[in-house]
Amino acid sequence: METKKEIEEQKEYIKKVKEINQNKNQKYNILTMGCQLNENDSEKLCGMLEEMGYTKTENQNEADIALFNTCCVRENAEDKLFGKLGELKKIKEQKGTIIAIGGCMMQEKHITNKIKESYPYTDIIFGTHTLHKFPEDLYKAIKEKKRQEDILDIDGKIYEDLPIKRNSNIKASVTIMNGCNNFCSYCIVPYVRGRERSREPKAIIEEVKEIAKQGYKEITLLGQNVNSYLRIEKEKNIEFEQYKEVNSFATLLKEINKIEGIERIRFVSPHPKDFTDDVIEAIATCDKVCKLIHLPLQSGNTKVLKEMNRKYTKEQYLNLVEKMKAKIPNLTLSTDIIVGFPGETDEEFEDTLDVVKKVKFEQVYMFIYSRRVGTPGDKMENQIQEETKHKRFDKLKALVESQIEENNQKYVGTTQKVLVEGTSKNNEEMLTGRTDSNKVVIFEGSKNLIGNIIDLKITSEHMWYLKGKLFLGTEEKNSF
Ligand code: SAH
Ligand code: SF4
Ligand code: F3S
Repeated sequence: METKKEIEEQKEYIKKVKEINQNKNQKYNILTMGCQLNENDSEKLCGMLEEMGYTKTENQNEADIALFNTCCVRENAEDKLFGKLGELKKIKEQKGTIIAIGGCMMQEKHITNKIKESYPYTDIIFGTHTLHKFPEDLYKAIKEKKRQEDILDIDGKIYEDLPIKRNSNIKASVTIMNGCNNFCSYCIVPYVRGRERSREPKAIIEEVKEIAKQGYKEITLLGQNVNSYLRIEKEKNIEFEQYKEVNSFATLLKEINKIEGIERIRFVSPHPKDFTDDVIEAIATCDKVCKLIHLPLQSGNTKVLKEMNRKYTKEQYLNLVEKMKAKIPNLTLSTDIIVGFPGETDEEFEDTLDVVKKVKFEQVYMFIYSRRVGTPGDKMENQIQEETKHKRFDKLKALVESQIEENNQKYVGTTQKVLVEGTSKNNEEMLTGRTDSNKVVIFEGSKNLIGNIIDLKITSEHMWYLKGKLFLGTEEKNSF
């Protein structure tokens, strides 16, 4: 296969850079912005860098390579990148740091132009379709001492067998598909990540089996539209090798559910329009699939949803929630909401509040609409004033926070299954873990518990976390 050959070529470059680095104690720093897909891409970049002989440092100033994996879904990431690049100029003059920038933002022409004009000391810029070529770009940047620009504007391919250095040894991410065909009118992702394409079932299952063998307990399946896994391939008759029973997202979940060692399965992000009955049934019947489902709402108003090109109405969304609640025991929901989409009136925004009140989400990720160059939303004339957007955001936030508080109360006194992740960031004496519904629980216990799923009695709630106590046996458990 063509992509396999490309990866072989890159492995040669990995060896070449490794030779150059021998005995040099070279360090890299990586700053990742954006979603979990980007985090997973960064794990692959780290994998490549470590094979090339670099070790990681958390301090950008002492790094020999300063790498950025960028996001462009909202505006704030741009300011952050440019600020950091400004700071790096002096450091580069002193120690010759190699500056490399990759990821979604690099697929935007106006951004790469700005980098070339205002930050010409950047050594490597690469896009989302050329991540696998990082060893080659780096080798050439070192050898030729001139800027490498490696950006393609294509639909995209799938590359297997890249080295990987994972962030955790308890939870692992597995990208199952890439790209997006939905073109929601506010969103830049389809333009920077290319068209929807799924990985071969066999490659995914093998990766999960390998992860299980290494002792990981939880996996998160990633994609911009995970629940349309293999749909485009089937619609367009693109050949894929059916592996065991896997020919859809639902069957993929079922197959992964059988893999020994994996105890929890999560996935992000599904699209409400692709929540077919077989997916609901798979979630309900697979014991390892967590019952916290992310169901991006974006807006609760049918007219705004239409303008956003989301392909569902307020009623369809609420009906879907009802259906899922009826079929999936212990279901909890999280969501994404955008406030201040062009043309959104106060009245239409009330519909969003109404859906939030009705559904009672476990968690809500709230965003202020951000104009993205090249999207239909950016061309709409009825943009909302910043002040109005902020007012709506604050109103939504207040509602969400009051609901979270109320919801947290329901946990107190129950017993929850918690995957213990490590010691608490703020207090080394305490352990931290997460419930099936992804709530953080802090508790006292032996470090031997790290990596295990245990029963905890919830004793109190504190807005963003719960406190728990080890369950010592004789008391009656009453989980919900
Ligand atoms: N594919 C996923 C996630 C896409 S990006 C999905 O469809 O759910 C993550 C979130 O960022 C989106 O769900 C949306 O709420 C938010 N977002 C995307 N574009 C945005 C924009 N231009 N302004 C503000 N928020 C945006
Ligand atoms: Fe963006 Fe919509 Fe695709 Fe999600 S589904 S990535 S919001 S275009
Ligand atoms: Fe951002 Fe790219 Fe993810 S734009 S949200 S990093 S797909």
